Amino acid sequence: MVAARIAVNGEETPISPAAPHTSLLDFLRERGLTATKEGCAEGECGACSVLVARPGVDSPTDWVAVNACLVPVAALDGQEVVTAEGLATAGEPGSPPALHPVQREMAVRGGSQCGYCTPGFVCSMAAEYYRPDRCPRPAGADGADPEHGPNGFDLHALSGNLCRCTGYRPIRDAAYAVGAPTEDDPLARRREQSPPEPVATHYAQGGGEFRRPGTLSEALGLLGERPDAVVVAGSTDYGVEVNIRSRRAPCVIAVDRLPELRELRAESDSVVIGAALTLTEIERRLDGSVPLLAELFPQFASRLIRNSATLGGNLGTGSPIGDSPPVLLALEASVLLAGPEGEREVPLADYFTGYRQSVRRPGELIRAVRIPLPLSPVTAFHKIAKRRFDDISSVAVAFALDIGDPGEGPAGEAGIVRRARIGLGGVAATPIRALDAEAALEGRPWTEETVRAAARALRAQGTPMSDHRASAEYRSAMLGQSLLKLYAQTTEAVSA
Ligand code: FES
Ligand code: FES
Repeated sequence: MVAARIAVNGEETPISPAAPHTSLLDFLRERGLTATKEGCAEGECGACSVLVARPGVDSPTDWVAVNACLVPVAALDGQEVVTAEGLATAGEPGSPPALHPVQREMAVRGGSQCGYCTPGFVCSMAAEYYRPDRCPRPAGADGADPEHGPNGFDLHALSGNLCRCTGYRPIRDAAYAVGAPTEDDPLARRREQSPPEPVATHYAQGGGEFRRPGTLSEALGLLGERPDAVVVAGSTDYGVEVNIRSRRAPCVIAVDRLPELRELRAESDSVVIGAALTLTEIERRLDGSVPLLAELFPQFASRLIRNSATLGGNLGTGSPIGDSPPVLLALEASVLLAGPEGEREVPLADYFTGYRQSVRRPGELIRAVRIPLPLSPVTAFHKIAKRRFDDISSVAVAFALDIGDPGEGPAGEAGIVRRARIGLGGVAATPIRALDAEAALEGRPWTEETVRAAARALRAQGTPMSDHRASAEYRSAMLGQSLLKLYAQTTEAVSA
C-alpha cells in the first residue's frame, strides 16, 4: 500500500495520521495553514474555499475552487491543492511575499474588513481569474450585464462565498478589476500540463477506511464486500453528515474519478451523462445544448458546490427537494444502474419508491443518466426559494412542452400541446411527475383557458407539507402560478 500524500502549495505532505473522515479543511489547519477558515462546515459560506487541480474543459488542467470543509482529505490522495497562502509569491529576501493579483485588488478596493471570509473569496476569485475561457467584454459592447464584469469575470463564481461585514460592492469591484494572468504566472502555466491522475487509494486509520477503486468492476466488487460502505462522489452531502451529525462510516468508497462514470456522449437518440461528472463539467461541456439543464445549473446551490456535486449524488441521496430530479423527470430521463449482474436502465419516473428510497439495489451504482432526444422545445425551471441563488427549494417545477405552431388550434390562433412533461420537487415524499396537469394540457390548444384548467390540476398534485420553508397552501399555490408564469412568458415572446 503506497502512503497517501497530497501536494499543498507545491509541498508533498503525507495524509497520515489523519482519520479517514478528516476534512481537507481540518487537515490544512492542523498543519498551520490557517488562512482556510471554518464558517459553517456545511458548504454554505465559502470561508474554506481552496483550489484543486482538476481535468480541464478548455485546457488540460483547470484550477477549481471547492469547499475544503466537505471533502475528506483522503479523497485528494495524489492531488494538488493551493490555499490562499500559496497564491502569494515569495518576495525579495527580507520582504513579505508579493500579493497575488486577486489579493491585491481585494486589498486596494476595500474588499476586506475583519478578513474572516477573505481567503475563501480570494480562492474562489482566483479560480475565476484562471478560467481559460474568461474573456473581456469587447470594447463598445452594448448593454450592462450586472453579473459579468468588463473583464469577463462571472460573478456567479462567488455565489458560494458569504461576507458578513464588508458588503459585496467592494468585493465585486475587486473581481471586476482583475486582469489576465501574465505568461510567467506559475498557476496559469500549470494549466497547460495534465492534472494529477487519480490514485487508487486504500487509506486505513483508526478503524475507518477510505477506498478509491480504479475501475467500475473494482468498485462493484468492493461494494459487494463492504455493504456497510458509504459511496461518495463530491461528498457535498456526506461531508455535511460528517461535520454536523458526526457520522463516521466504517468505509467510504469514492467513485468520482471512475472513467466509466465520467463519460458525456451524444448519440442519435439520447444524451448520456456520466453520474460522476461534476455539475460544472456538465454545464461547460453541454454548453447550453440541453436548455432545461442550462436553466437548472445556475440555480443549483453555488459554484463551489457545483464544482463537486454530481447528478449521481443528487439522485443517489433521493432527497425530495433535490433540484435535478424535477428537471430530469420533465426530460423523461432514465437512470443506468451498474451492478454485479450487469447494467439495467430504469425510467426516472419509476426510480423513486419512497422518502429517500429507490429501486437501486444494494451493490448497484448509478453509472449514468440518459436523456432521450429530441428535446421538447418549450422548457422552464422555476425554483421557488427564499433567496435567488444558493438556497434550498420550497418547491421546484420543471416543464418540457411541445406546442404546435400557432394556427393549428380550433380558434386558428393557438398551437396544440402535443406533449407535456412536468416534474415537481418539494410537494411529496419523492420527486414526482404532475400526471394530471400533463393530461389537462395534452391535445388542447395552448390558451389561457387550457392553462388555467391545467394550473388547477397542478395545484392539486402531490401532498405538500407545511414546514419552516413554506406552508402546504403556499407550495400548492406556487405550482399553479408557475404554469401561469410560463404561459405569460411564452405568449409575451410571441407578441413581442
Ligand atoms: Fe462554510 Fe466550508 S466552512 S462552506
Ligand atoms: Fe468580515 Fe467578510 S470581511 S466577514
